[in-house]
Amino acid sequence: AIDVSSLRGKTGYITLDTGFKNTGSTNSAITYLDGENGVLRYRGYPIEQLAEQSTFLEVAYLLIYGELPPKQELDNFVSEITRHTLIHEEMKKFYEGYPSKAHPMGVLASMISALSTFYPESQKSELHPAEVELTIIRLIAKISTIAAWSYKKSKGFPIMYPQNRLSYTENFLHMMFAQPTEEFNVNPVIANALDTLLILHADHEQNCSASTVRMAGSSHASLYAAISAGVCALWGPLHGGANQQVIEMLKQIHQADESIQKMVEKAKDKSSDFRLMGFGHRVYKNFDPRAKIIKQVCDEVLDELGIDDPLLDIAKSLEEVALSDSYFVDRKLYPNVDFYSGILYRAMNIPTEMFTVMFALGRLPGWIAQWKEMRDNKEPISRPRQIYTGPTERNYVDIENR
Ligand code: ACO
Repeated sequence: AIDVSSLRGKTGYITLDTGFKNTGSTNSAITYLDGENGVLRYRGYPIEQLAEQSTFLEVAYLLIYGELPPKQELDNFVSEITRHTLIHEEMKKFYEGYPSKAHPMGVLASMISALSTFYPESQKSELHPAEVELTIIRLIAKISTIAAWSYKKSKGFPIMYPQNRLSYTENFLHMMFAQPTEEFNVNPVIANALDTLLILHADHEQNCSASTVRMAGSSHASLYAAISAGVCALWGPLHGGANQQVIEMLKQIHQADESIQKMVEKAKDKSSDFRLMGFGHRVYKNFDPRAKIIKQVCDEVLDELGIDDPLLDIAKSLEEVALSDSYFVDRKLYPNVDFYSGILYRAMNIPTEMFTVMFALGRLPGWIAQWKEMRDNKEPISRPRQIYTGPTERNYVDIENR
């Protein structure tokens, strides 16, 4: 063992690992991921069991507090979340300021950040357990209202208030699709599939957005601010934005602009920046276990709803072609969670630009758990180093001599 106090204040060698491909940033007891063997567990429970037997809010509790809740505890958690789904009436006015074509991820990030201004106690550096609990409840409760209303706004439809008699996923679907003038019944097949999708997205250890949440939170910025940063990180096409791009790619093939083989060849061509969206993963070098479950749910839901989506057939053929191509085989590029999720969202009538928002809804408990673990462990502020490659010292040159 090294006496670290003797090293205090001293600087040593810096390791350079761009993109943190092989650098651990923390110890974590939340999610176990074995990319070589395609294993994913939340707090020790296999993702397959949770997807089959649990509910999204129970999984949220498990991730955040570490254990499956006893019944009374779960009932309290769910009822607290149900009671906090309304957002401040003043926040409704914000929606009027966004352009009608505003991307819902931009709306989501800024609205979550704005929540901190309505609950200023969340900005204190010193954490008080009761306030943290309330912030967690508020975030899980309000994110679905904010998300659904951003969709309504983009369509110019009147917003729908949450209804306490409905479950979390039913309520979200109600706020998305109900109209004040028509009766609306949530389809249980869709509500169940959505619940499973949210479970599958709920955490994935130190991915780009979770690391962003931990990093932003490490400065003791409020939980709202840290989650807003996570939403922004998720937005990019190499992370959560891939699900939207997958559908756009499949549509392109469907509209016969491109054949499947041509798309695969294009992805292999290093002179283009194009990648087969929904393929490959930083950690999985095997089938993404979530993709396996989603593919199965996809088949079941489309079957039950009687939907014949040509994009599902194209996706399956694309998977077949890619997985028999040595380029993908050698690089261990398998379909990831985003490859089939978009087809399920389409079956639920969720528009493409909302796909990444759906991912954020699911990932929220994981982000919260990551933030809480970081704060509970009193981790220091994140501050990576660099290898400087710029000019050596030089003198300032007056503007007329440049
Ligand atoms: N299509 C074609 N080639 C690919 C793909 C792909 N989807 N993914 C990786 N490759 C190739 C790379 O060009 C590289 O080839 P090379 O060794 O000949 O240079 C090799 O496979 C390794 O790829 P890296 O970019 O080094 O892998 P990295 O771990 O950095 O990237 C990532 C992982 C970002 C997910 C990547 O596979 C990708 O861009 N996939 C498409 C986007 C996507 O689906 N993102 C969602 C990820 S899952 C999630 O965030 C929920």
